[in-house]
Amino acid sequence: MIDAISTSGPGLTLRLAVGTIFLLYATYIYIQRRKDYDADRLFGEKHGCMPLKRRLPYKWPLALDAFKRQYDALVAGNLLAFQSEYFEETQVGQTFEVKLLGRVGYFTLDPQNLEAILSTNFEDWGLGSRREGLYPMIGEGIFTQDGHQWKHSRELLRRQFVRIQYQDVKVFETPINSLLAALSSQTGVIDLQPEFFRFTLATTTSLIFGEPFAGLTPKDHEVFEENFDYCALIGAMRLRLANFCWLYNPSKFKQACAEVKKYATYYVNHALKDQEENGEEEAADRHPFILDLYKELRDPILVRDQLMNVLIAGRDTTACLMSWTFYLLVRHPTSLERLQQEIHSIATNGQNVTRAQIAKMPYLKCVLNETNRLYTQIPVNVREATKTTYIPRGGGPDGQSPVLIRKGFGIGFSPYHMHRSKDIYGEDANEFRPERWEGPQLKNIGFGFMPFHGGPRLCLGKDFALTEASYGIVRILQTFPNLRLGPDEPKVQSGQEKQTLTIVVASADGCKVLLS
Ligand code: HEM
Repeated sequence: MIDAISTSGPGLTLRLAVGTIFLLYATYIYIQRRKDYDADRLFGEKHGCMPLKRRLPYKWPLALDAFKRQYDALVAGNLLAFQSEYFEETQVGQTFEVKLLGRVGYFTLDPQNLEAILSTNFEDWGLGSRREGLYPMIGEGIFTQDGHQWKHSRELLRRQFVRIQYQDVKVFETPINSLLAALSSQTGVIDLQPEFFRFTLATTTSLIFGEPFAGLTPKDHEVFEENFDYCALIGAMRLRLANFCWLYNPSKFKQACAEVKKYATYYVNHALKDQEENGEEEAADRHPFILDLYKELRDPILVRDQLMNVLIAGRDTTACLMSWTFYLLVRHPTSLERLQQEIHSIATNGQNVTRAQIAKMPYLKCVLNETNRLYTQIPVNVREATKTTYIPRGGGPDGQSPVLIRKGFGIGFSPYHMHRSKDIYGEDANEFRPERWEGPQLKNIGFGFMPFHGGPRLCLGKDFALTEASYGIVRILQTFPNLRLGPDEPKVQSGQEKQTLTIVVASADGCKVLLS
């Protein structure tokens, strides 16, 4: 009886219809995929693409062993050093395939490939999972956008940075005076690193928020600082989880994001109120960044988010650059002395330092280049192909042919490891030698040196960051001419020290020095 019902009548017709639709749909998907695949193959042939032979080896299913080793190295504070050894030991070369947790992706350290991704074929690539990872903290802005939205944000913010470029170094003056006062009040071995994080938070917030907001208490600023640090830490973990970032969204993170946004909202509202009460021209003197963005965006939340995007891009990066610079200088007294002599010959002690004076300090520029090379902020990064494209090198038996990258596939790249490549920088690539930037050898290095990336997404804050770091370093060395390495501080080969890796790379043991 049951058989009779299920093999005849309207039930059967319905099932047959559903089955047919499913079959047609599956056939359609198959044909579509086949067509895409054939089109991609033809595209690859046209560009001379060859298969990528080198793969990162693994033993356990889903490459869980490779995943675990990297996680252990991250916790131990030596992930970047571990990767250097791992790439060398497994002889994967400069470009290789990675299959982690069942997903195929690529990794490259080749300057030619980086130029193609970031510049020549820029339109073929997007940020991938970065948006999802950072969205809860910084929302809609230049650091989370692609395509038209990004172009609009870039144009808007570029105007701000052009304006700043013509300003003097006044924006750094109050924060550096606070930093110098804080250092002078301490004795014995002092860790400069946390002071630099405080300094760059003050400079970047003063750049974007404008005049300090009197309505907030020191406690409010402190709470903001704590929440911002926490959000940046969790944000970095989410970035590492890429498409799985939704797995890590603790409630403390949500709460901290809300607090950080609340703080930025105070400033936006304060600037808008100032404009309402005192007129556009007068208020724009006090809050140029906010009010110019508002003129275009007409939405306080969008303005707030853009500010948060600039803050995340600009704060930790410059703090780490300054911290690593001193970390290296105190371990290389000859370089430190040469820099001190250069500063002394151009900016007399006690005088305010100007942009023009900084421009006359070539050795300082070499020191910053060398620090940016060895300790590249944003050491590792990712892009995802928004359409089928290729990278110029890595394929074929000799690794010299282009490689096809199909739409939706991701590629990781590491300026940190590339900057330590002996092929580019010679046998002493791991050593701090600012003099290497004096000769003509590295003049046309192109994408072989890219701490600020290159192409259309080149760091907008490059000039601000280099001026800030230069100004800060000069003022500190003028004030503390006896600055030197603290006793018992480790002196290991560059890259072997313990590191804290978030979006940026910091020294896990700080930057401990003696000032007098
Ligand atoms: C040593 C300091 C700095 C380094 C090494 C650095 C490095 C970078 C890099 C590598 C990018 C490209 C990221 C990507 O496209 O995936 C970037 C983007 C950006 N940086 Fe910086 N940065 C520094 C300081 C700053 C400062 C101080 C600011 C602002 C005050 C800033 C603002 C930005 C902005 C707005 C972007 C986004 C550009 C875009 O996507 O079009 N940066 N930075």
